[in-house]
Amino acid sequence: MDATATTATAATPFSTLIRVASHEKHDEANAAPFMSNLLGGRLGVDAYVRYTEQLWFLYRALEGASGALREDPVAGPFIQNELARTPELERDLAHLGGADWRTGLEPLPATAAYAARVEECAREWPGGFVAHHYTRYMGDLSGGQIVRDKAEKTYGFARKSDGVRFYVFEGISNPAAFKRGYRELLDTIAADDLEKQRIVDECKRAFDFNGAVFEELSAEFPLSA
Ligand code: HEM
Repeated sequence: MDATATTATAATPFSTLIRVASHEKHDEANAAPFMSNLLGGRLGVDAYVRYTEQLWFLYRALEGASGALREDPVAGPFIQNELARTPELERDLAHLGGADWRTGLEPLPATAAYAARVEECAREWPGGFVAHHYTRYMGDLSGGQIVRDKAEKTYGFARKSDGVRFYVFEGISNPAAFKRGYRELLDTIAADDLEKQRIVDECKRAFDFNGAVFEELSAEFPLSA
């Protein structure tokens, strides 16, 4: 075996690199008081609705760009119809807020900034778009399932039904296998080491955007004493 082959074999797969590099950020997101208060039943369903509205603004940004990126060599392979969440969010919000749920709806400033960054990446930097894609969809397929379970119990939604459809991937029968496939896409991404590092940095930024949205939600829904 020549030296090049040995190095290639020993190199850390990109899926591992991005998971390990964002681990600390993940723990921070996981510990956000808004999430623990929400899922611990210390906030009303209005807070859950406000959070779901933020997701709608975000996924419109992520998925609005999908068509244009489908043929892109870097981002294109990640765009898979079964991941699309916007229709599910719209069903959840119609259930939660009634037919005119969109009327007067505005994103929180942190959500607007997050969505604007996703749109900017989609326009100008496919690698950055992948960072945002990974952070949201791999999270939804993983911790999202814990969130769904708790939300069903806390707010009385029927299992995998209106109100929590965002967390239900009808087109993915085996999430563990899907995630394995997704990691393979990461491992074969058309990017050199420098670009991979930039993608990791953008992933950390994506976690920070999520943290900022949680902060603003906490401010809007303080715990009553
Ligand atoms: C209540 C909050 C959360 C819980 C309980 C949670 C829980 C988890 C768990 C258990 C996993 C590992 C699943 C596995 O190994 O397959 C995971 C993975 C992940 N989570 Fe979260 N999470 C939460 C919030 C978040 C947030 C806010 C984000 C970012 C938006 C996020 C992004 C991710 C990502 C990207 C992964 C995939 C890591 C990888 O395998 O590459 N999570 N989460």
